[in-house]
Amino acid sequence: MPQKSESNKVFAVVAQNKNRPAILVINGPNLNLLGEREPDIYGKQSLEEINNDLQKYANARGVSIDFFQSNHEGELVEQVQQSRGKYSILIINAGALSHYSIALLDALKMVDIPIIEVHLSNIYRREEFRHQSLISTVATGGIFGLGARGYSLAVEAAIQIIAGGK
Ligand code: DQA
Repeated sequence: MPQKSESNKVFAVVAQNKNRPAILVINGPNLNLLGEREPDIYGKQSLEEINNDLQKYANARGVSIDFFQSNHEGELVEQVQQSRGKYSILIINAGALSHYSIALLDALKMVDIPIIEVHLSNIYRREEFRHQSLISTVATGGIFGLGARGYSLAVEAAIQIIAGGK
């Protein structure tokens, strides 16, 4: 029997949707304050500005993109649960929850599509408690330390995966 690759899974979801492929970008706690929050670490762009750029970028490439941000773990878990079967790829910066939320990890385990993890900062050059990411254990891949550029690189990677690349 042929092995089901991750990119096959992407196509399966796209086929189910019968629409154009869709990416969901999830941001966790305190990322709503990007631009104001520790700009030396996280940059000067607001989340709205970042998302607007991603929207234009994805739409120009024929891909739908939705955004969700919450400061609440339970809301993030619910959003991940509800994303099942609706999206081709999930991009997630879970903020501090990346380091300790088993609930979010368990929800992500139920999502049968590629997951791309993003961190604006290089979490491995910061405090030791940021060196572990539970999200990384279920992510297909990740980008860290490149600021807001990390989101657009993640969208570019997502589009390539959707197109059948590795
Ligand atoms: C972050 C890194 C986390 O340690 C921190 O709690 C955040 C942002 C990042 O994008 O660099 O909220 O995920």
